[in-house]
Amino acid sequence: MSFTKGRRRLRGRTVGAVALAVTLVTGGLAAAAHGQEGTRVSAEDAVQAQAASLRDLADQQGVRMGTAVASHLLDQSDYRQTAATEFNSVTHENDLKWETVQPQQGQFSWSNADRVVDFAEQNNQMIHGHTLVWHSQLPSWVENGNFSQDQLRGVMQDHISTTMGRYRGQIGTWDVVNEPIDDNAQFRDSVFYQTLGQDFIAEAFRMADQADPSARLFINDYNIDGINAKSDAYYELVRDLLAQGVPIDGIGFQGHLISGQVPSDIQQNIQRFADLGLEVMITELDIRIQMPATEQKLEQQARDYEGVVNACYAVSGCSGVIVWGVTDAHSWVPDHFDGQGAALPIDSDYQQKPAYWAIHEALGGDPADPTDPPTEDPTDPPTDPPSGDCEADYRVTNEWNSGFQAEVTVTAGDSLTGWTVTWNLGSGESVSHAWNASVSSSGSAVTATDVGYNGTLSAGQSTAFGFVGNHGGSVSTPQLTCTSGS
Ligand code: G3I
Repeated sequence: MSFTKGRRRLRGRTVGAVALAVTLVTGGLAAAAHGQEGTRVSAEDAVQAQAASLRDLADQQGVRMGTAVASHLLDQSDYRQTAATEFNSVTHENDLKWETVQPQQGQFSWSNADRVVDFAEQNNQMIHGHTLVWHSQLPSWVENGNFSQDQLRGVMQDHISTTMGRYRGQIGTWDVVNEPIDDNAQFRDSVFYQTLGQDFIAEAFRMADQADPSARLFINDYNIDGINAKSDAYYELVRDLLAQGVPIDGIGFQGHLISGQVPSDIQQNIQRFADLGLEVMITELDIRIQMPATEQKLEQQARDYEGVVNACYAVSGCSGVIVWGVTDAHSWVPDHFDGQGAALPIDSDYQQKPAYWAIHEALGGDPADPTDPPTEDPTDPPTDPPSGDCEADYRVTNEWNSGFQAEVTVTAGDSLTGWTVTWNLGSGESVSHAWNASVSSSGSAVTATDVGYNGTLSAGQSTAFGFVGNHGGSVSTPQLTCTSGS
């Protein structure tokens, strides 16, 4: 996929300004942006409509599109505005970690964590809780406490029940255990493992389940995005935990990735964990670039983001993506990787990068930027209606290892009130999710019908819908049939 027209035209406008210009959630302006009255959007409407934010699109798709926030940055209006308008979920980047919450035994400190929770509640956002039991950012009273097994169990129990108890009903998902396996695919030699053995993982999940039975409980790690020795170790581990009846609901792939080196089998990896019955989330996505970031590197990064996001949204068990920071100015990457940076979809000046538009499109945003007025004169009469009820054109807009994205344009021959498009899938193909049409399949036969607002077309008018699908090695070019009525 090339990142052409709409993608770069918004440079110079800040994300907050775009996102605040309109709320394109359901109905109303969303329909206008996609051409509710056929595809003819007046120039004025198009300019007013602006682009849907990532949050709007994620809400429409019913998926999570989150970010990590730092409480001390919530004083900055650009930061607050972007965190609120672009994302439907927040995670505490550091403010909920053990060293912040319980720096001394029994002394809990909630002010920073509360600020983030209050912010999320004010903005009607989900919260992914990060994190309860982790070897890092752990205060020295735990790390060097020389606790007996029972004492350490008590320390874990107290930390988990107090922290989860405080936010019961407010934080819906939690990274209960973070990074328990090391880069050699062995149990990490943490104080928890040294004292309690690998059972500390099962015990932490049981404690968490007791603290908030309605929360969804995750294990979370980096370098497990693709299939490799470490993700294989996780596969074995979570299968064992499930077999023992441990209350684990999900696995987080952190997704700290390098542009140009993104694993090609992320979707396959997500799928195998989803097949175990687990919810999968990409919990800390960033894709770093060797600086300086050239236009070519940013285009590569956009393709990388698109691949990861599509891999998640192609698997029904993958509930969404969280990016690790609001803009490049707030990313942990430059501080930790010499000479690398620009890892997020929004740059340090709050401008959307090609990666932003790649996510936007993966979430079903109009690939032709709706902030651009239509190039044709909106008063021109429709031209060359096809013969028959209607015509459907099929275009594959993106393809990756085992998935693809396609767009179908429906053009009316005669005035239509409702339309139906049918086609047959090629071998190994399936449809995973669609937008701007109601799509169902039975065997290889697919039926797509309008979704009300885009069903009424006059002769020659067009509307488009899209979907993400899986393929079995290659993407077929189907024959489509379009008929009036839905
Ligand atoms: O708060 C102190 C500040 O007082 C001091 O002046 C400053 C000097 O360096 O350091 C500040 O603490 C830093 C802290 O972030 C808050 O900004 C630490 O040095 C720094 O090491 C810490 O880095 C965090 C890192 O976790 C620690 O492991 C990053 O912000 C945070 O993004 C990162 O997040 C982790 C996830 O929790 C787990 N997965 C990996 C991910 C990236 O490492």
